[in-house]
Amino acid sequence: MKHSAAWEKEFAERFEERFDEFKWLYCEVYNNDLQAFYWLCGAMHEYYEKRGASLKKLDRERKKTPFWYSTNKLFGMMLYVDNFAGDLKGVKAKIDYIKESGINYLHLMPLLKSPKDRSDGGYAVADFKRVQPELGTMKDLEALTAECHKNDISVCLDFVMNHTSEDHAWAKAARAGDEEMRKRYFFFDNWDIPFQFERTVPQVFPTTAPGNFTELENGDIVMTTFYPYQWDLNYGNCVVFNDMVCNMLSLINRGIDIIRLDAVPYIWKELGTNCRNLPTVHKLVRMMRLVCEIVCPSVLLLGEVVMEPSKVAPYFGTKEKPECHMLYNVTTMASTWHTVATKDVRLLNRQMQQLSELPKDYVFLNYLRCHDDIGWGLDYDYLSSFGMSEVPHKKFLNDYFTGKFEGSPSRGELYNDDESLGDARLCGTAASLCGMETALEKEDKEALRQAIDCDVMLHAYMLTQSGIPVIYSGDEIAQLNDRGYHGDPDKKADSRYLHRGKFDWEKAERRHLQNSVEGAVYQAILTLERIRSQNEVFTASADFSVIDTVNDHVLGIRREYQGKRLYAFFNFSPQEQPAYFDGILSGTELVSGKKVRGLSETLKPYGFLWIRCE
Ligand code: GLC
Ligand code: GLC
Repeated sequence: MKHSAAWEKEFAERFEERFDEFKWLYCEVYNNDLQAFYWLCGAMHEYYEKRGASLKKLDRERKKTPFWYSTNKLFGMMLYVDNFAGDLKGVKAKIDYIKESGINYLHLMPLLKSPKDRSDGGYAVADFKRVQPELGTMKDLEALTAECHKNDISVCLDFVMNHTSEDHAWAKAARAGDEEMRKRYFFFDNWDIPFQFERTVPQVFPTTAPGNFTELENGDIVMTTFYPYQWDLNYGNCVVFNDMVCNMLSLINRGIDIIRLDAVPYIWKELGTNCRNLPTVHKLVRMMRLVCEIVCPSVLLLGEVVMEPSKVAPYFGTKEKPECHMLYNVTTMASTWHTVATKDVRLLNRQMQQLSELPKDYVFLNYLRCHDDIGWGLDYDYLSSFGMSEVPHKKFLNDYFTGKFEGSPSRGELYNDDESLGDARLCGTAASLCGMETALEKEDKEALRQAIDCDVMLHAYMLTQSGIPVIYSGDEIAQLNDRGYHGDPDKKADSRYLHRGKFDWEKAERRHLQNSVEGAVYQAILTLERIRSQNEVFTASADFSVIDTVNDHVLGIRREYQGKRLYAFFNFSPQEQPAYFDGILSGTELVSGKKVRGLSETLKPYGFLWIRCE
């Protein structure tokens, strides 16, 4: 009794503190619909009551260190449950591997019920309350998150909020003519308004799913920004917001620590706009942040904003009114691959410089590869100062990474190659993009060495950045592309399946063999990860700046935290390169343990240095 009174008090305090702003925002977006607002408040309280005591304790714990995720201690991995271990129980059984790999942040890719032949990799949810039967049950999910927590692993899960599957109960009822349910989507009985939208709204999947609307068998037209079977939800309807918040909270209560807000820039639509990043999106995200701060304050929001930097940063909100806790460092990711192709670090230099000027409480999720394609969203204004222009440069990058370009060892495939725009994106695993597949096929030992060194150097660079590094499952054992999807009718049109192959446990077995490819990559990444977690200079809030290495092939970064300093250098070229320091350096290279003293060092092809200065 006493216990529950204490929990009530905590809730009431958090609620009262945020009530005015929450109500204000809600009334603004939903036309003063107080009845709907109080319904949501009641539902929030219910989800709080249902929230398990161990999760409430975690809320309390993390409140003491609100920036617990802003450190050098988190190392993430994202994986598909079925590819990695068949089902949720399988993942639980493989937790030793996850731990051995140094992972304490685990992103489980979409696992809710979704039609098998129309799932977009699970991003078309037919039931937010049920796990895809082949993967297990909600109980299995709870058991897995509990096991993760026992092992100090935080769990991230997607919340696919922009749309539902056409097989979701709401969509089925809407299709059958239920008026209330139709209002949850964007329904039209003729093409007038859809055509008006099409004039200003770009396409996400121009070749695999052209257009933003789909005509149903009875002539009704429904908005489908992504695939035709993913129906956009209408957040202008407060019932949609309320019910989706409840869906989110019910998932969170299964033990989810980080909610990935899938495709969040798209959730608000207005005629005459591009329907991306509209001001109301930020109000909705801010309300979701407030809901979490009230009901489950230990939970973090990770926004999926795959956009240029000026669109990304606003999703952090302001200091007083924060929105997302974390965002993807997407421009750095794309700029990194650009640098692999051009071997010229100037763009990356500039990108690092711009990041270094952002507030220290912006936490980025850093990654090299993920389940999606690489889109070439680069700073073309800057690149044009070297005479590179957008369309030909994208063509060069795509030629390079598909191995068409003379001398390129890369093995990617194009994604959504829209010839009219010259705008194709790219798929492939890190190892195949670095050239391992080609080298293995040709049995070229020297080329293989270089591909491994390139791959490891890229990981070292990712780990040098501020924020949370997240590895794409399989990259730690240098998994190659999987062309099997070409023969699968449900997948063959979507080249993202090239890098969504089954985790190769036979390859993983070789991770302990020093002279195997898998061992070389796995052990190197593990070593880097250990060094990173032991050295506070890698903490997310450290200062960092770019060093002019007087060599366009070598990127230099200086990090500093409470008097500790790190100088990091990355050679993006396949030749030996000198790197000049910005003065005399004296310190220890953290990987080799060698002492360094002087004005410069020679980096081996695709080599890197992490020099800690005393
Ligand atoms: C996200 C996912 C992507 C999916 C899309 C539609 O951006 O990352 O895989 O296709 O949303 O849900
Ligand atoms: C675009 C979208 C992103 C989605 C991706 C899928 O980049 O912005 O949300 O994940 O396409 O390819």
